[in-house]
Amino acid sequence: MSAIAPPLALLAELSHRCPLRCPYCSNPLELERAGAELDQATWQRVLSEAAALGALQVHFSGGEPLVRRDLAALVRHAASVGLYSNLITSGVLLDAARLAELVEAGLEHVQLSFQDTEAASADRIAGLAGAHQKKLAVAALVRAAGLPLTVNAVMHRQNLERLPEMIELALKLGAGRLEVAHVQYYGWALVNRRALLPTEAQLERATAVVAEARTRLKGVLTIDYVVPDYYARRPKACMGGWGRQFLNISPAGKVLPCHAAESLPGFDFPSVRTASLAEIWERSTLFNRFRGTEWMPEPCRSCDRREIDWGGCRCQAFALTGDVARTDPACALAPDRAMLDRLREADAAAPAGDFTYRQIGAARAPAET
Ligand code: SF4
Ligand code: FES
Repeated sequence: MSAIAPPLALLAELSHRCPLRCPYCSNPLELERAGAELDQATWQRVLSEAAALGALQVHFSGGEPLVRRDLAALVRHAASVGLYSNLITSGVLLDAARLAELVEAGLEHVQLSFQDTEAASADRIAGLAGAHQKKLAVAALVRAAGLPLTVNAVMHRQNLERLPEMIELALKLGAGRLEVAHVQYYGWALVNRRALLPTEAQLERATAVVAEARTRLKGVLTIDYVVPDYYARRPKACMGGWGRQFLNISPAGKVLPCHAAESLPGFDFPSVRTASLAEIWERSTLFNRFRGTEWMPEPCRSCDRREIDWGGCRCQAFALTGDVARTDPACALAPDRAMLDRLREADAAAPAGDFTYRQIGAARAPAET
């Protein structure tokens, strides 16, 4: 038996294609093309291997997973090997017939993103006219189909004032969970940090709003919320720790410990095309590089939180310091924390400015395959 505990979940990024253009997109700067995507049979093998390895859940994600016409076949296969299926979607390609197909195949949960509570602002952030109205309709379809719904709300400087309305929207839509997700600043979000980073006053209000709502809505709506890294005293345990809980598979089959790992230099990224998930999870250089505590520099190495936050986020450490093995600057004990404080203060003091969108063509839905 392996000494390495199995992953909890597989994040299956079926495609980087997406009808939205959110300025905080967590997909890599270099997107994989449709022609490079894994085919249905390979995804089905990967799902079987994940279940055999001990994973319990699969999150079908992207980009937008609904661009794949074989999504229901993948959901059906996941169910057949005992994986709990969650669909992470923008919703704009979902209709009643497609949802019925997915439910019949065994889909068990939907996580739907909302960009704001006001349609004009939401559509501007998403980069797609009409997206917000469509999402409202899709949420109703999901609940009518009897599926549990999580609302994923990425909050930032340009919508954080409407957090009370976002909580009310999640309630009205019948969601059981609301993820109030602050932007993580790597990839495309780093390009837009000045336009997205909340001010300290905004953040204080938001934290108070969440505290009040959690008390008021106990047992009705679960609200996930953590203070964003640039204002935190200690970092989050990114992905629950490197190589501890999650396998992330890119559309072309690269197996990664997190969705941003391709931004890190010096690695050969293993692929499901040439190795099994078990080999990659247990023996690859990539997954073992930052697993556990042996790799840690000071101050993490002798810190009593080292098995709580696992030194924070490797991708953020690299994005801000150029060194993937440094303590995450989100930690107040990190040698680079003063730099993060300066960046935050400069960004928060400047006008928010406009978003920079990816230039990947017009803001319309990509073709389904
Ligand atoms: Fe976490 Fe390292 Fe900071 Fe300790 S020093 S709190 S282990 S990031
Ligand atoms: Fe890669 Fe945090 S996103 S380790």
